[in-house]
Amino acid sequence: MNDVRSLLDALVERHSLTLEEYKFLIENRDEQSAEYAANKAVKIRKAVFGNSVYIRGLIEIGNICKNDCYYCGIRRSNTACDRYRLSDDDILKCCDEGYAIGFRTFVMQGGEDAYFSADKICDIVSRIKSKYPDCAVTLSLGEYLREDYVSMFNAGADRYLLRHETANNDHYGKLHPEKMLFDNRIRCLYDLKDIGFQTGCGFMVGSPYQTTDTLSEDLKFIEEFKPAMCGIGPFIPHKDTPFRDYPAGSAELTCFLLSIIRIMHPRILLPATTALGTIDPVGREKGIKSGANVVMPNLSPISARNKYQLYDNKLSTGAESAQNLMDLKERLKNIGYEIVVSRGDALK
Ligand code: 5AD
Repeated sequence: MNDVRSLLDALVERHSLTLEEYKFLIENRDEQSAEYAANKAVKIRKAVFGNSVYIRGLIEIGNICKNDCYYCGIRRSNTACDRYRLSDDDILKCCDEGYAIGFRTFVMQGGEDAYFSADKICDIVSRIKSKYPDCAVTLSLGEYLREDYVSMFNAGADRYLLRHETANNDHYGKLHPEKMLFDNRIRCLYDLKDIGFQTGCGFMVGSPYQTTDTLSEDLKFIEEFKPAMCGIGPFIPHKDTPFRDYPAGSAELTCFLLSIIRIMHPRILLPATTALGTIDPVGREKGIKSGANVVMPNLSPISARNKYQLYDNKLSTGAESAQNLMDLKERLKNIGYEIVVSRGDALK
């Protein structure tokens, strides 16, 4: 009775499974049941979004970071990392370029850097919003105080991405130094949602010490938190981090989890991530075919791109580059999808 397909059918109906059931799905999936999940996910996504794929212009505003996450290439202790910050004008220029080629969402992502205080971020957000009132601004800048998030929201920011990284406190402690607290991460996420941001969480697939138990907790957390967006991509080791010798996560499991999350939350905004495109040359397409509906090409200045290396061999040219939007359009058209010029907001 409890085979993978009937559990997937149950998820379609109930949008909820127990921890044990999520674990069963992950442990007992095979090629056929993954295809079954992907077909369901694609059908559901089509019913909600048609063939539309939303694009976000990713602007990596700086790689200076006070944190020391064991997996991340821009961690504080990495002395080999060539640090940079974009100026307000640099960021505005990225938006100008992005707007001209059809982007209507700009994502500002960066390390946790005191230079980017809440006031500073508010200034930049106000400038973008007054120049481009028809665009959405997404922030992905890490943990701040609630009051800071409130100011950013009042300055006009629409969305905030903050991956929870893992929903298990002990696992969180194995990925981060003691100073970083799981509880604060989760506090941030609930604050963001409560303030009114379209809020995104997410995690890496195949991160060190991840188990099928912690993965089922991730799924349960996503089920209950009901994020507007969810970023999941494979862990990829970076040579200058403590996790350099751990294996990368798989595209196959990432895609299966994308399908589960699509079935769980039909209206969620689900990116086919750069990390997925990095470990598999057709990872973006596979992600879309598994239920994803967002891609986030890179709009950062070329000089910044090779410095924002969260993991080894991170793609930043080719179809990942916003300037090659035509190529990406073509690739998605070939599999039956259409990139649309729109803010692509979360559906209520
Ligand atoms: N592999 C894959 N993803 C990574 N991230 C950071 N380091 C890595 C890595 N080595 C992800 C984290 C973070 C997001 C910005 O990038 O999940 O939240």
